[in-house]
Amino acid sequence: MTTIITVDGPSGAGKGTISRKLAEETGFSLLDSGALYRVTALAALKQGVDIQDESAVVTIALNLPVVFETTIEDTKVVLADEDVSREIRTEKAGMNASIVAAFPGVRSALLQRQRAFAQEPGLVADGRDMGTVVFPQAQLKIFLTASPEERAKRRYLQLEQAGQNADMQSLIEEIRARDERDSSRATAPLTPADDAILVDSTALSIGEVNQRVFSLMKDRGLLP
Ligand code: DC
Repeated sequence: MTTIITVDGPSGAGKGTISRKLAEETGFSLLDSGALYRVTALAALKQGVDIQDESAVVTIALNLPVVFETTIEDTKVVLADEDVSREIRTEKAGMNASIVAAFPGVRSALLQRQRAFAQEPGLVADGRDMGTVVFPQAQLKIFLTASPEERAKRRYLQLEQAGQNADMQSLIEEIRARDERDSSRATAPLTPADDAILVDSTALSIGEVNQRVFSLMKDRGLLP
C-alpha cells in the first residue's frame, strides 16, 4: 500500500513548508490541496462565474484544466496554459478558496483528483481534511497548529518578502475569519482526525517540527 502522510491544520501553521520538506527528503509526491480550491475559485472568477453559485462552481471544479509542475524548489500551477502560481497566493484568493471549499459539491468534485496523487513510493498530503476525508487510511496523520498571532506574523513576513503590503491587525482578523469558516462548515470541517498527532508549532522552528515528524515516521517504519 502506498505510504500516505497527511498534514492538516489551519492556514499559516506551516503545513506547506513542512510538507514540501518531507516530500523532498522522502522522494514522496506532494499534494497541495489548498491550491486546488484556490484554482477552482480563480477559474470561476476568470470565467465570470459567481463564486457563491455552487452548481456553477461544481462544473468548473469537475473540468478544471490545471497542471501542477512540482520541482524541488516550488510548484508551478498552470491553469489552461497560464501560470497562476502567484495569482492564487494572495489573501483574496485564499478567502475565495475558503468560500468555494464550503460547498459539498465542490469538495466531492475534487475528491478523485486529490486521491490520484497517491502514487509509489508515497504521498505527503497538505490540507484541512486529508486525514479525515480524503485519505482516512493514511499511516501518519499530523495536525499542525499555531496561535493566530504567530500565524499572522509568519504571513506578514512572507508578504513583506514578496514585496506586498500587509497590516498585522487585519491579517489576524482575516486568519480568525478563515479559521471560523473552515472549522464551522458542515462538510469536512477543519478538525483533527481521531488518530491524528497534534503538533503545535507556535514556539517551534521549521527544523524542530520537521525533526518531530521525521521521528514519528521512523517510529512507524515509514521512512523509505
Ligand atoms: O491551505 P490554503 O490556505 O491554500 O487553503 C485555501 C483554502 O482552501 C482554505 O481557506 C480552506 C480551503 N481548503 C479546504 O477546505 N480543504 C483543503 N483540503 C485545503 C484547503
